[in-house]
Amino acid sequence: MLDKGYEVHGMVRRHSVSENQNDRIKNLKGITTYYGDLLDYPSLVRIVSEVKPDEIYNLAAQSHVRVSFDVPSFTIQTNSMGVLNILEVYRTLAPNAKFYQASSSEMFGNSVDSDGVQRLTTPMNPVSPYGCSKVMAFNLVRHYRHAYKLHACNGILFNHESPRRGTNFVTNKVVKHAVEIKKGLRKNLELGNLDSSRDWGHSKDYVRAIHAITNHDKPDDFIVATGETRTVRDLCKFVFESLGMNYLDYVVQNSAYMRPEELNYLKGDSEKIRKQLSWKPEYTFSI
Ligand code: GDD
Repeated sequence: MLDKGYEVHGMVRRHSVSENQNDRIKNLKGITTYYGDLLDYPSLVRIVSEVKPDEIYNLAAQSHVRVSFDVPSFTIQTNSMGVLNILEVYRTLAPNAKFYQASSSEMFGNSVDSDGVQRLTTPMNPVSPYGCSKVMAFNLVRHYRHAYKLHACNGILFNHESPRRGTNFVTNKVVKHAVEIKKGLRKNLELGNLDSSRDWGHSKDYVRAIHAITNHDKPDDFIVATGETRTVRDLCKFVFESLGMNYLDYVVQNSAYMRPEELNYLKGDSEKIRKQLSWKPEYTFSI
C-alpha cells in the first residue's frame, strides 16, 4: 500500500514487551499506528473518526486453527463479534469507504465438490472454532453489503505463506526446523498430521489479489488459490530434499500437534478472480 502511494494507518494491540509492539512492521516506514482492538468498540470509533479511511482492510483475527480449539470463545468473539463491531463502525462513520474482510478456505471444512475443488458454491461446513468464526464473519459482510448497500467484499484466501509467516504454522516450522537440523542444532522435527493437503500460495501474490478485490467496481466475493494441492508430507519431502536430507530420517509425529477435527484437503478454484480481475499467481510452490 505504501508503494502504491497510500497513506496507511494501522491498528495495534498493546503488547507488554514494548520492543515487540510493532515488530512485524518495523521495517515499513510511514505507517501510523493506533492502539485498538476489534473487541473494543470505542477504540474503533476513535480510529475511524480520526482517520476517515477510504479503504478498510480487516486482517485482524486469532488466526491459528489449532489454537482456536484451546481458546474457542476468544477466537469466536474476535473473529465474529469483532467483525460485527468494525462493520457497524464502518456503516455508521465511513459508509463510503471500501471494506475488505479476510475470509478463509477453512470455512469449507471437509466439503469438496465432486471434481475435487472448493469453489464459491461449495457448502461451508467448518471443522474448527476458527472456521466457524470465519463463516459468521463472511455472512455478516455479505449481509451488510446487501442490507446497507456498502462496498464490502470477502476474499476467500487459501493458505498463503512467506518468510514472515509465524513459525508455528506448518510451512515455516518445517523450513526453520529442517535448516536447524542441517546445521546440527536440532535432532528432529515434530509434526502432527502429515496427510492433510493444502493449496499453498505466496502472500505477495495474495495481497495483490486483496487490493484488486477491494478496488473492483462491484463489491463481491472471490476465491484466491493456486489450484494446486500438496500434502504436509510432500512439503517435508521437498524441503528436506532441497537441503540434501531424507525427511523420513528426521520427522516424528507428536499428537500434541494433531487437531480434534482436521480439514483434510484444500484445492481452490480461483477462476472468477483470474477472469474478472486478471489475477494470477507469479510464485509457484517451488520458487
Ligand atoms: N501448525 C501446524 N503445526 N500444522 C501442522 C503441524 C504442526 O506441527 N503438523 C501438521 N500440520 C498440518 C495441520 O494439521 C494442517 O493440516 C496443515 O499442517 C496446515 O496447518 P497450518 O500451517 O497451521 O495452517 P492451516 O491450514 O491450519 O490454517 C492457515 O490457513 C488458513 C486458510 O486455509 C491459517 O493461515 C489460517 O489463518 C487460514 O485461514
